[in-house]
Amino acid sequence: MKTILAGGQYGDEGKGKISSYIAVKDNPEIVARAGVGPNAGHRVLYKGKWYGLRMLPSGFVNENSKILVGTGVMVNPAVFLEEMEKTNTKGRIFVDRGAGTILQKHIEEDSASETSKKIGTTKTGCGPSLVDRVRRTAKRADEIEELKPYLVDGVKMVNEAKDVFIEGSQGFMLSLYYGTYPFVTSKDVTASSFAADVGLGPTKIDEVILVIKSYTTRVGNGPFPSEIGVEEAEGLSFQEYGTVTGRPRRTSKELHFDDLKKAVMVNGATQIAITKIDIRFKGNEGIKEYKKLTQEAKDYVNIVEKRLDVPVTLIGTGPDTEHIVDRREEIL
Ligand code: IMP
Ligand code: MG
Repeated sequence: MKTILAGGQYGDEGKGKISSYIAVKDNPEIVARAGVGPNAGHRVLYKGKWYGLRMLPSGFVNENSKILVGTGVMVNPAVFLEEMEKTNTKGRIFVDRGAGTILQKHIEEDSASETSKKIGTTKTGCGPSLVDRVRRTAKRADEIEELKPYLVDGVKMVNEAKDVFIEGSQGFMLSLYYGTYPFVTSKDVTASSFAADVGLGPTKIDEVILVIKSYTTRVGNGPFPSEIGVEEAEGLSFQEYGTVTGRPRRTSKELHFDDLKKAVMVNGATQIAITKIDIRFKGNEGIKEYKKLTQEAKDYVNIVEKRLDVPVTLIGTGPDTEHIVDRREEIL
């Protein structure tokens, strides 16, 4: 089985939590990271310990899985090595030899340029390093000494494996193609691109899980409908802060269904995962069985299913990897 996980909103949907659960539960041979690069930030709570990651997939928590950073991803070697140490994944972690790399000059450019300031980028150098890649002047992973012990032919790896779980980053509304251009990230971030990022053809993908949070947030500049203030968001416990940048995230109480419908279409979503239902509706913390959710929460899930016409198979009920309702066996 080959499954892709994609973000349905502006990133920060809680993909990390869903991904870590799936990696543990489904036990894939390979957990692959797709998407842009270390501009993504996710926090994973596993066995009582928090891990903050930017480069590695949250699915690292399954110690049986090999971890691969795909050829489409821009790798910051220092961040990669630091996260390998902190997750203790040496020996089962690999980078495709053709992956892009982020150098100090890219980070400097991303911090200084007027365009980056206007957009409110994460200043992690992803955009400028992709510019070099398009100019065909970039350094690839196989030219970086520190990455040499981890290099592999990722294409061969994912195509020879039976079960691969591909973790995308960012979210649909930040896609270079489909998002709120120019207030977007530097690549397309939908399922087709994630498949290409790791070297799988579209016909090889079995499932696409679109992750949406039960309310909407955006970090950085750009259009954002029905935005509320920080105070109101704090009052609802919806207020969040960026993992990479620490910036307060902008909040909307609504799900933006027109955008979500488009996200379902472009991603070819076969399942939806809803996160943070416990934050939206009190009384659902840590629940693992659908029937134990509050009526309000179940009604919400039904509305999402009806309006998007895709089954909601996973429902996040708390920060821990295990805090989840998994309806896949019942529904699929
Ligand atoms: P960049 O990807 O650093 O160039 O930033 C471009 C825009 O995408 C900015 O608004 C960022 O805040 C946003 N962005 C990039 N990655 C993420 C993410 O993983 N979560 C949320 N926002 C992101
Ligand atoms: Mg994030």
